[in-house]
Amino acid sequence: MTDAPDLASDIVTPDPEAAQAYRIRDWDEVAGPAADFRTFWEDRAKELEWYEPWHTVLDDSNAPFYSWFTGGKVNIVHNCVDRWLKGPTRNKLALIWVSEDGQETRTFSYFSLNREVMTWANVLKAMGVSKGDRVTIYLPRIPEIVFAMLACAKIGAVHSVVFAGFSSDAIKERILDSESNLVITADGSWVNGKVFELKNIVDEAVRHAPTVENVVVVRRTNTEVTMDPLRDHWFSDLETLPIAKGQCSTEVLDAEDPLYILYTSGSTGRPKAILHTHGGYMVGVYTTLKYVFDLRDEDRWWCTADPGWVTGHSYLVYGPLLNGATSFMYEGGPTYPYPNRWWQLIEYYGINILYTAPTAIRSLMRFGEAWPNRHDLSSLRLLGSVGEPINPEAWHWYHRVIGKGRCPIMDTWWQTETGAFQITPVPSMPLKPGSGGKPFFGQEAEVLDEKGNPVPDGQEGFLVLKNPWPAMMRTLYKDPDRYVSTYWSTYPGKYLTGDSARRDADGYFWVIGRTDDVIKVSGHRLGTAEVESAFVSHPAVAEAAAIGLPHEVKGNAIHAYVVLRVGYEPSEDLEDELRQHISRHLSPIAKPDQIDFVAALPKTRSGKIMRRLLKARALGQPEGDTTTLDD
Ligand code: WT7
Repeated sequence: MTDAPDLASDIVTPDPEAAQAYRIRDWDEVAGPAADFRTFWEDRAKELEWYEPWHTVLDDSNAPFYSWFTGGKVNIVHNCVDRWLKGPTRNKLALIWVSEDGQETRTFSYFSLNREVMTWANVLKAMGVSKGDRVTIYLPRIPEIVFAMLACAKIGAVHSVVFAGFSSDAIKERILDSESNLVITADGSWVNGKVFELKNIVDEAVRHAPTVENVVVVRRTNTEVTMDPLRDHWFSDLETLPIAKGQCSTEVLDAEDPLYILYTSGSTGRPKAILHTHGGYMVGVYTTLKYVFDLRDEDRWWCTADPGWVTGHSYLVYGPLLNGATSFMYEGGPTYPYPNRWWQLIEYYGINILYTAPTAIRSLMRFGEAWPNRHDLSSLRLLGSVGEPINPEAWHWYHRVIGKGRCPIMDTWWQTETGAFQITPVPSMPLKPGSGGKPFFGQEAEVLDEKGNPVPDGQEGFLVLKNPWPAMMRTLYKDPDRYVSTYWSTYPGKYLTGDSARRDADGYFWVIGRTDDVIKVSGHRLGTAEVESAFVSHPAVAEAAAIGLPHEVKGNAIHAYVVLRVGYEPSEDLEDELRQHISRHLSPIAKPDQIDFVAALPKTRSGKIMRRLLKARALGQPEGDTTTLDD
């Protein structure tokens, strides 16, 4: 099979009988008059419970600072947990969790989930956390991360989850920026059978973050840690205190009160603090999951993402609970201890929908079909993909070997900023491998040239979204100017995604990749600036440039160009040391595949590194316009 998709002919049509059963057969069917997205979203919001209704569905008087369901009183936790306690869903499993070694299973009904969340919320209150306060969460993929997030939301605190693979520098920066007083972590996490020492990393971060008054520690790996008697508390001690017991009511909030901030990489400078709110985010995440994955009461849904990223926020934690679904959560990765772990879990737990990333599919593909073929995967009904473009070869493998040709693949395009799916198929639609389908109901997307004119179908351009949507970020925390300049100023009135794309004659979108200095490595988002600043924090490095080059499994791999300070000589040892340095000071995800020592970096006359040129050279492509190159 070659990788060059013939856009017109590679179409997988749905089984007509199955298609009949799906909630949505066609975007146009739900759509009604396409312009009326306000009514569509208002109807969806009415499917959820509100303490008090909104007076305005969408207030765009201060655009691009949009406000949704203005005047409404709500709390997302009321709809994730509280509302299910009244009916039959009370006894349904909300969460099934399996440990990395496969030896331990923990399950929580909606009723027991509520009890856990109340305990956590009581503990947070006892620690002095109240409405509007920021709480940094740095936890492994264990049920406690779900409880901690929901507990924050329940009392109106704003969670800031930091992926438990980030370095102490990265956490420190996020704690300082969000001014968190409390950090929730664990002694360690399990990563391929080894302990990753989370608490030690937090200790290092907190040493330079004076706002932190308390650190709550969950015991997971039984690793020895140092506890500061005034600052650090075992959760297992706190939960036995009388104050942790008993009821805790859910805070009545405004629809537009903040729910969380989540840091994500941008093209320049520091990571951006994306801010999401209770009301609109709730409606957007609930609706997209329900329609696109046709979620049914009896389903077991598995989103393999980590709650440290937006996919985990929206479709592991909030989305399934808003739908009263049963969510499966696995602590480990796809290939440990063997490359059949996921298939084993799907068989044993009867998973119906698997939502994962192309990089995972590609890494599993390498081990061949024998591994999945040893398992009965017949419970699967639908598959999903997210995080980066999926190459048609991986798409077909996923469809044929995992889905046995029966399961439509929902290739969902969205971003931390969008909160919920924006461009996606529905299961009843003909699918084009490699294409994310069409804009979700109420959304219109366009592909523009540099001047803002739509490019003809089939041509590449800048992808923009035209309509506001409820789950959109509201601003960048503490940086509204950057919110406007990054997303809304290039083409006034339109949301700039940062991606390049093509639209074909059938209206399907083909996302190609980022147009800015963001690199997607194994679906994880990294900024060239972050990688470069981690490099120059090493004493041997004078200057560095990072670019992403195509990689068979990771999608992109980081290549770095390093100019050494006087007195340092290039060597393999130094290269290894720099790789470790990046791993420790940013994240193991950011470890470069290749480091080239160079005498100088190509720059413009105004001093900007020309990464485009480095990339063209590395790929042996034409160098393009080099008139601004400084000699
Ligand atoms: C960027 C956003 C939102 C989920 C996780 C990533 C790329 C995401 C797809 C897809 C092609 C995709 C884009 C986007 N991306 N999903 N289905 N097809 N590209 O969130 O870390 O904020 O990254 O991921 O480049 O801009 P994120």
